[in-house]
Amino acid sequence: MNYLNPEAHIADGYVYARARAEHIGQIHEIECLSFSEPWTLESFKKELTDGLARYFVAKKLAADGAETEFIVGYCGYWSIAGEAHITNVAVHPGYRGRGVGAGLIHAMLCDIRVLGHSAATLEVREDNHTAIRLYGRFGFTAAGKRKNYYDRGTKDALVMWARLD
Ligand SMILES: CC(C)(COP(=O)(O)OP(=O)(O)OC[C@H]1O[C@@H](n2cnc3c(N)ncnc32)[C@H](O)[C@@H]1OP(=O)(O)O)[C@@H](O)C(=O)NCCC(=O)NCCS
Repeated sequence: MNYLNPEAHIADGYVYARARAEHIGQIHEIECLSFSEPWTLESFKKELTDGLARYFVAKKLAADGAETEFIVGYCGYWSIAGEAHITNVAVHPGYRGRGVGAGLIHAMLCDIRVLGHSAATLEVREDNHTAIRLYGRFGFTAAGKRKNYYDRGTKDALVMWARLD
């Protein structure tokens, strides 16, 4: 099982940390740039305060290596009955293809494993080949489909699972 895949091209120059309330504005901006039906600012506020969800951000490091609060990507999951349900993964369009997505998934899977979950699942639009390949590198495989799940009922979702034990 390769959920901590060392071949995952994790980007240098970024640090991965738990999301805090002050990050919500930047998270929502990236959400709006990334999805045709973005979650609202209010829904992210609820996510970060209701205790069920755990969110992570990728912060850009300054040239001298100092941590900044400049957010280039985020991801999150719900912890339900011993399983992790991944809700969102998104990287700012100007920072894609550099390994930030892999870094976020790696950080999240470490957290999921530390909490003792036995499996992780997510839905992804079936034509989102970049995301599907990325999840595949971390051990996710397609286990089914949800018909008409995305884009106002016009696109199907793949349901992917990774076993973590
Ligand atoms: C899917 C998404 C999160 C991936 O984020 P990302 O930061 O671009 O991901 P990575 O850079 O880690 O990997 C993506 C690709 O870049 C490549 N890559 C990674 N590091 C690289 C590097 N240093 N140099 C060049 N390419 C690199 C990877 O090999 C991968 O290539 P692939 O398409 O052949 O698989 C991002 O494209 C995104 O936000 N999309 C819109 C939202 C979305 O679809 N989210 C998923 C919903 S389920």
